[in-house]
Amino acid sequence: MISKVCVIGWPIAHSRSPLIHNFWIHQLGINNAVYERLPVAPQDLTDTLRHLRDWGFIGANVTVPHKEAVYASLMRHDALAHRLKAVNTIVTTVHGLEGRNTDGYGFMANLTDRAPRWRATTGPAVMLGAGGAARAVAAALDDAGVPELRIVNRTGAKAEALISDLALKRAKFFHWDDMAAALSGANLLVNTTSLGMSGESELDVDLAPLPAGALVTDIVYTPLETGLLKAARARGLTCVDGLGMLLHQAVPGFEAWFGKRPRVTKELRALVLADMGITEDKT
Ligand code: ATR
Repeated sequence: MISKVCVIGWPIAHSRSPLIHNFWIHQLGINNAVYERLPVAPQDLTDTLRHLRDWGFIGANVTVPHKEAVYASLMRHDALAHRLKAVNTIVTTVHGLEGRNTDGYGFMANLTDRAPRWRATTGPAVMLGAGGAARAVAAALDDAGVPELRIVNRTGAKAEALISDLALKRAKFFHWDDMAAALSGANLLVNTTSLGMSGESELDVDLAPLPAGALVTDIVYTPLETGLLKAARARGLTCVDGLGMLLHQAVPGFEAWFGKRPRVTKELRALVLADMGITEDKT
């Protein structure tokens, strides 16, 4: 029998998850397994979840716009999905479908991989944005022990809701106009907004107040070097692009479905970069 896994989203045509998981399936010699795209319109989500196992799927990834709706539809979750009220990974267990969330794991694993000397506990972290992606990043940074999380967002109420929903004890909201104060003395700057993504407006931040030892990262990875990372590199700051978050968040799901822990390698990164039309990895 074929073990099938899929990624559920709407639209889903551009998801790179099949490329990543099928690379690992092949590399690790897993027989009779395949990872597919499954386009699911919002009105079909409940029905899809109900039939997932009958259709032969042993698990799934979940992407935009379904992460919160899948959380609401499933009966079982791991602690992190429960905390975030969002699911990006579905695993079949003896009790039925279980929702998990590996986005925060992917975020932290990317930093550990690409900036091994950086430590979360050394100083304040600044996070731009307070949307869905920001929740996973904020919880991960909190769990990693950041002494202070400064959340800069256009809409204050959204940042305050994030702080209270995740019960963040060491987080503070900063207005966009107070960016300089937020950046002062910070150890990390992370962009979780869609600003800087191809086709979106640029993110315009003056990085001068950041200390020389700060790490700058972006969860946007198209383009690979966003305007923020370019500006940070020009100042000599350590930079980590967002592609690794996509690659690392896939690891725990694959291990849960197939029983083997895959590795994020240069070869995998090159494969995804080639799919993005980038043949030379300058990092
Ligand atoms: P995602 O799930 O990808 O995080 P989201 O939940 O829509 O997407 O969140 C988008 C984030 O980008 C929010 O923090 C949003 O700020 P608001 O809370 O004020 O809406 C931020 N964002 C999007 N466009 C923006 C813009 N033009 N200027 C400033 N922030 C912006």
